[in-house]
Amino acid sequence: MKLKKILGIDIGGSGVKGAIVDTKKGKLLTKRYRIPTPQPATPEAVANVIKEIAKHFDWNGPIGVGFPGVIQQGIARTAANVDDSWIDKDLNKLFSRATGCTVHVVNDADAAGMAELKFGVGKGKKGTLMLITVGTGLGTVIFTDGKLVPNLEFGHLMLHGADAELYASDASRTNNNLEWDTWAGRFNEYLLRIEELIWPDLIIIGGGASKRWDKFFPHLSTKAPVVAAELMNEAGIVGAAMVSKYYNKLNA
Ligand code: BGC
Repeated sequence: MKLKKILGIDIGGSGVKGAIVDTKKGKLLTKRYRIPTPQPATPEAVANVIKEIAKHFDWNGPIGVGFPGVIQQGIARTAANVDDSWIDKDLNKLFSRATGCTVHVVNDADAAGMAELKFGVGKGKKGTLMLITVGTGLGTVIFTDGKLVPNLEFGHLMLHGADAELYASDASRTNNNLEWDTWAGRFNEYLLRIEELIWPDLIIIGGGASKRWDKFFPHLSTKAPVVAAELMNEAGIVGAAMVSKYYNKLNA
């Protein structure tokens, strides 16, 4: 089977977005189609949204989905910013049943990281790269010489006795009405803690906040250079499609 075009879908805290992706070039072949994340975001409600997105594109090929939690072989193990009823559900099965297509689900940050490494700012870079998606949560990905360790959850480090994500995500900035420089101070503390533990050679910032990098990069003081992701809000969709291609090939 030639797997060039894949429907990539990114499940986020506020929207579920999809587009058809050329996985060879890492480019969207269609406009993104977005449906607000249903509230409560139960597995069944989100499965319906995924079905709607597939229908919108009149799609019956393979689908890759990025999910904001730990995914082991298609099974959700955590669900920090979505409903607890996701835990231990087989999402490959649930979404395949809903759409009638072959669906592979992976962690959203892992998907974004894959796209950024292959087609974005990480392209051709050696050493230890860390990508942090800064949005509703903090998603973390580490590559060393191009190899990914899946499901790393450094967004949940403890900082000031609480989950780092509640202190330094973009949602913590908006929910607490923080000025950019106040929030940048918090985010810098987070990055310094990451640096103490992991020592990446390069830190790439993705997710919603990366569009406003000029507001907070000047406040950062890590030894590792910090750069903004290039694919921005397309990375999650492109990466989900890339991962699906990988699994479909494995099972071909
Ligand atoms: C989740 C991660 C996810 C990140 C970004 C965190 O709360 O635990 O799995 O990658 O949010 O969505």
